[in-house]
Amino acid sequence: MTQIESNLDEQKQPLVFSIPMWPQEKIERFRETLLSWYDLEKRELPWRKNNDPYRIWVSEIMLQQTRVDTVIPFYLNFMRSFPTIEALAQANEDLLLKAWEGLGYYSRVRNMQTAAQQIMENYDGKMPTDPKEISKLKGIGPYTTGAIASMAFGLPEPAVDGNVMRVLSRLFEIDADIAKPGNRKIFEGIMRELIDPYKPGDFNQAFMDLGSSLCTPKNYHPELSPIKEFNQSYQNGTWEKYPVKSKKKKAKPVYYVGTIIKNANGAFLLEKRPTNGLLANMWTFPLIEKELVIQEKDSAKEALIQSEDEDHDEKVLTRVMDELENKYGIKPTLMEAPFDEVQHIFSHLKWYVAVYYGQMGLEEPIAIPENCYWVQPSDFDQYVFPGPQTKMWQSYLSKFKK
Ligand code: ADE
Repeated sequence: MTQIESNLDEQKQPLVFSIPMWPQEKIERFRETLLSWYDLEKRELPWRKNNDPYRIWVSEIMLQQTRVDTVIPFYLNFMRSFPTIEALAQANEDLLLKAWEGLGYYSRVRNMQTAAQQIMENYDGKMPTDPKEISKLKGIGPYTTGAIASMAFGLPEPAVDGNVMRVLSRLFEIDADIAKPGNRKIFEGIMRELIDPYKPGDFNQAFMDLGSSLCTPKNYHPELSPIKEFNQSYQNGTWEKYPVKSKKKKAKPVYYVGTIIKNANGAFLLEKRPTNGLLANMWTFPLIEKELVIQEKDSAKEALIQSEDEDHDEKVLTRVMDELENKYGIKPTLMEAPFDEVQHIFSHLKWYVAVYYGQMGLEEPIAIPENCYWVQPSDFDQYVFPGPQTKMWQSYLSKFKK
């Protein structure tokens, strides 16, 4: 809801959340200036070829947290594999996760499948056009709702993400902290005033393009901007102060030992993760959570190696061996110390994985748990590998396969 606060008796500009809004004539000039720039400079992107809401939806979900150049090949492959909402709703989970491998944040694609199933069941297989209905779909928040509504259906809905907040905060010298979710409504309120009612999709995308080209967090060139005459922070020489953005909370560290175990046939032990929780249903080398580590340390290797206890290394090794025997039924010969450490950040967790390598002997085949397989590296492409797994494998290849 736009919040125009009436202060006409004071004969000032109307306020939107206490921010003075421009007169209508200036808003119209701004729209014209921005849209002319967009017409000339807009990038040819695969999801901009038509107004299909499904294509726009997929691209917008992929573009959350991931850069346009990285997204393009994933997007093209995804659209080939799952060309319609129906295909997405019915997709096999492994194939779906495989198509997402490398993008991370797998809950995004799981939610998309649930939303596709909602659309099949409740909306006759077609994306609803009413923003209220769009926003009821799983995984679709206010930003994606606005993007779909404006780009696919031509509705004057704001699509406010971090880029748009950055551009707006410089344009209007807004002091509100853009890291605080509650402040988004301020920017949406302003955008509702500014948005071009005839070309809302282009208008939103012009902001996105500006935010990723000339008005990036670090590389900001206000003097080159097509809208510099409207940019209050540039005009007043205050642009370096904007946006106000508080630091995110540090990700919580979690320590693991990762064990890369090869058998006599050259196959490696892979374990399927549980059906719920982080990285559900994906495959990794056996991971052992290191509850041995009591204090927070900067690295798992340090945590594993540094200890008051002289026998620490040996104790860790013994513990890892015990775990491999008890949980996986195997008794490999392990290297005495980790050969590397890989790190991976999830939204609120940081994994530190100390990686061990071990080999099985020529003993009789042993029963391993049901969720584990011995897999040849040539077949790895049939398994969904999350980020830390890919990093462990790359590290192994660089150290042992020169
Ligand atoms: N970032 C998020 N959505 C985008 C879009 N539609 N075009 C370009 N960059 C974007």
